[in-house]
Amino acid sequence: MEIPSYVKHERLKQWVKEIAALTKPDSVYWCDGSEKEYDEMCETMVRTGTFKRLDPKKRPNSFLALSDPSDVARVEDRTFICSRRRQDAGPTNNWVDPKEMKVTLNKLFDGSMVGRTMYVIPFSMGPLGSKIAHIGVEISDSPYVVTNMRIMTRMGKAVYDVLGEHGDFVPCIHSVGMPLTGGMKDVAWPCNKDHKYIVHFPEEHSIWSFGSGYGGNALLGKKCFALRIASSMARDEGWLAEHMLILGVESPDGQKTYVAAAFPSACGKTNFAMLIPPKSFSGWKVTTVGDDIAWIKPGHDGRLHAINPEAGYFGVAPGTSEKTNPNAMAAITKNTIFTNVALTEDGDVWWEGMTKEPPAKLTDWQGNPWTPESGKKAAHPNARFTAPAHQCPCIDKDWENPNGVPISAFIFGGRRSTTIPLITQAINWNFGVYMAATMGSETTAAAVGATGEVRRDPFAMLPFAGYHMGDYFNHWLKIGREIYNPPRIFNVNWFRKDAQGNFLWPGFSDNMRVLKWIVERVHGQAFAIESPIGWMPRYEDMDFTGWHDISQEQFYELMAIDKELWKKEILSHEELFIKLYDRLPKEFMLMRDMLLSQLWRSPEKWEMAPEF
Ligand code: OXD
Ligand code: MN
Repeated sequence: MEIPSYVKHERLKQWVKEIAALTKPDSVYWCDGSEKEYDEMCETMVRTGTFKRLDPKKRPNSFLALSDPSDVARVEDRTFICSRRRQDAGPTNNWVDPKEMKVTLNKLFDGSMVGRTMYVIPFSMGPLGSKIAHIGVEISDSPYVVTNMRIMTRMGKAVYDVLGEHGDFVPCIHSVGMPLTGGMKDVAWPCNKDHKYIVHFPEEHSIWSFGSGYGGNALLGKKCFALRIASSMARDEGWLAEHMLILGVESPDGQKTYVAAAFPSACGKTNFAMLIPPKSFSGWKVTTVGDDIAWIKPGHDGRLHAINPEAGYFGVAPGTSEKTNPNAMAAITKNTIFTNVALTEDGDVWWEGMTKEPPAKLTDWQGNPWTPESGKKAAHPNARFTAPAHQCPCIDKDWENPNGVPISAFIFGGRRSTTIPLITQAINWNFGVYMAATMGSETTAAAVGATGEVRRDPFAMLPFAGYHMGDYFNHWLKIGREIYNPPRIFNVNWFRKDAQGNFLWPGFSDNMRVLKWIVERVHGQAFAIESPIGWMPRYEDMDFTGWHDISQEQFYELMAIDKELWKKEILSHEELFIKLYDRLPKEFMLMRDMLLSQLWRSPEKWEMAPEF
């Protein structure tokens, strides 16, 4: 194996040799991250059928990949946290003894790359050299992964300069798990239909992924490193790795406020991160730092500073349109990889929700002819675009600032058709941690499994925390004790419905109205009243300028706290607490009781009385 002379890290070279000896690829290729390399790899994939080049006039330098129908989302039931002790992974993670898992993995990876090229992909999560950033090296036998990693991370040769001879890196090993033995012919989307393993070893900071080529299962910088391994590093080192978007809000007088917001998968994080304020909000601007993950470290000024460790968007395509997210639509006009969307007759892409009327004829995500009468979806509900972050018109000027941006507020929100009001502010940090810890959400298509059921998704981290969730809550409480002026914590719900099942809140641009109240609260500029579950705006505290439809009654319907539903909600908190009992923060029981006592003293159906 020829190793480029610019790779000076002996341990890394040794590791690559070991993995090559195990997986037995035909050749080893060290990625340099250049444009030439990217173009050649895309061209090769066009020849092998993995990529289809889209019309260069309509979608320059963009490609479509269609996955195997069995490989379309993250596989949470095949995702493992293999800490040395079972209790350190906690009851919300799958656990296997690391020694036993290594035996399984060694068997699976033995010869798994026969007939293929093994790519060595150096990448930085976060701006190269930033004190908040960390380095990883992914070994993969998938050129699809290489091209996506080049968009999603700072990938290439320059990483070796930061790594030097002894720098730390997270080794990430990925194989699609389909060796080409005995002259077997390759397929457009190789994967392993019988065995999938997404495995994390938190103590040794390593990742092994087998059998899937899709998204978070295979682009190991994202969920595996930037959330599962990083959350465990963050706990040990005193920082936070969170499933959060980061955005900046600029007021007409030029005051800039950064907030980070956690929502479960497919709850419109990318849309919120790229929000365009309503026309009546003249002078207000929202800018994007990140749309999915935030790494947050205490700075010398005693505040929390966040970077987006990613360099691209791996966004859910269905539902994205000029109406819902014009900034994302602009970001994906070129240099984009689309996966599992539909193909138009003129060589462009389409998905449900992109236009009001679907095109008369399409090729669907499985490569079959499609018409509106087909009775099935043209794009897979978890179809994705991979696009460079800098192509987003509202990218924040400091999105690559190595020092990060100072965070003034955390926002948490699930998808809930009932119970949870549009907006509340936690009375203090600890209560905010409690609210985030007990957050629930109706499940979506981003992970395999049933959709539409409410599941507790603490901090939107249920599938992503790399250690015991009870320890994770304690870590958040500890951070609050250690920083001088912690960000304010808010809870939102864009998805509340009326009795007929209609959404009560339009969302999208109008979320700016909620965001404005949040920003003003942070700066002590907005009024709030006390409710049993936190601070709330009154109708007159919200800026409804330019919007004439919402009556006071409608607003209070969105904000209502139904005592009966809240009793059920607290019982469901209880289920989570029982599960996490051995490591649950002692404060949580006190906070639950305080919540109960607040609800108890309130009327049967607590509503925001206009006279407040
Ligand atoms: C994602 C997810 O892909 O959360 O961002 O599933
Ligand atoms: Mn996500």
